Amino acid sequence: MTRKAYIKTYGCQMNEHDTQRMHDMLKEMGYVPAETADEASVILVNTCSVRANPENKVYSFLGTLRPLKARMPDLIVGVAGCVAQQTGETLLDREPLVDFVFGPDNLFRLPEMIEAAKKGERRAWTEWQSWEGPVKEFVPDTWVEQGHVEGSKAYITITKGCNNHCAYCIVPHTRGREVSRSPESILREAHGMIDRGARELWLLGQNVNSYTGGPEYGFYELLDEVSRLDGLLRLRFTSPHPRDWNNRLADLMAERPTICKHLHLPFQAGSDAVLKAMRRRHTLEEYLDKVRYLREKIPAVEISTDLIVGFPGEKEEDFERTLYTLREVRFSQVFPFKYSTRPGTRAASLPDDVSRKEKEDRLARVIALQDKINEEAQEALVGTVQQVLIDGPHPRIPGRWNGRTDGYRSITVVADGLNPGELVDAKVTAARGHWLQADLHRP
Ligand code: 5AD
Ligand code: SF4
Repeated sequence: MTRKAYIKTYGCQMNEHDTQRMHDMLKEMGYVPAETADEASVILVNTCSVRANPENKVYSFLGTLRPLKARMPDLIVGVAGCVAQQTGETLLDREPLVDFVFGPDNLFRLPEMIEAAKKGERRAWTEWQSWEGPVKEFVPDTWVEQGHVEGSKAYITITKGCNNHCAYCIVPHTRGREVSRSPESILREAHGMIDRGARELWLLGQNVNSYTGGPEYGFYELLDEVSRLDGLLRLRFTSPHPRDWNNRLADLMAERPTICKHLHLPFQAGSDAVLKAMRRRHTLEEYLDKVRYLREKIPAVEISTDLIVGFPGEKEEDFERTLYTLREVRFSQVFPFKYSTRPGTRAASLPDDVSRKEKEDRLARVIALQDKINEEAQEALVGTVQQVLIDGPHPRIPGRWNGRTDGYRSITVVADGLNPGELVDAKVTAARGHWLQADLHRP
């Protein structure tokens, strides 16, 4: 009988990427992916602890596995990711059905961990790896050769961990100090992925633009080299920090066709007082200056962002600066979050003094304003020609193909016989909420 494995993933793209790697390792071990948890003999939960909400979902999901484990005592359950790293042994004590927990640094030991679990060992694998020298090859060589390609897209981790001290953020605790891979290793992985069909590459890091590949070799140099690779159509990266974004990078984005004209640049709050309390190390004006420069160089650039409402001490007039920023920048996408106290962070010692009702209210005001801005922006795109990278056929309607514009808007192209990974020109015919409709454009 074929053995099956099921992975439930919460959190960011880094976690999605780690899940792909776990699937690859499980495949090597002879497991095929299961459609549902109840047909699997190994279940992994890849967790996120960035806010209380995704963390709570992990515990609810584990709760749903209890009857399954009761029926199948041989079922192996592992918990991965940020909650696992932070909770470690305590999670084993709290959840008897869990066989092992492991943090992001121990991912590559998955086969060893499963074997140990099969022998009845219950363990937390949360120790940090250490490397010699300034550049750390934290991606094992075998993975560099076999980097996962999903359709025409592939993700490459260039840094891991984070050296910033944003007061609200748990990531430095769960993912550790920042380390960068060597440019050689990244370029080798990128080459391999393009050879295996990748047309769009994503460079990933918690703070992607603080990448340091050696003396005189930073994020600019890496972006410059990767964006010139033969066969590559699109290059994206996430997430940069505003402090480490600069006009040189904007110039490079402007001049290099493969670098997508989209920047996800989290600003978190519009008030300088709140930015200071958050320890973001920049003012709103500094952020806006960088945005203005980029817009001047690339008028059609799309900028998206993350923000937090209700950080401790945020007054109504502070919050209004956040709304002001939305109106000023006119983001293509906004990911707004209610502040959530994370244990062990600096902000955890501050009184969580914005009421739940007020946070919800502010969140709703952000969403309403952004919906209006987005509706106008989508309407303004009707009649324009957009370059679209095709992801695949529309899941339900034949003769339609889903893809993304250069600026990362979702778009459906009405056409026959396109292929995933194809780059086409499409004329936008209608704006429908969060996606655009278009016809194939042949000048
Ligand atoms: N509370 C609310 N939102 C948070 N984020 C990070 N930590 C917290 C927190 N404690 C948000 C930030 C970040 C995104 C990934 O999650 O906006 O950019
Ligand atoms: Fe969540 Fe942050 Fe961990 Fe990603 S790195 S899974 S966002 S806590």
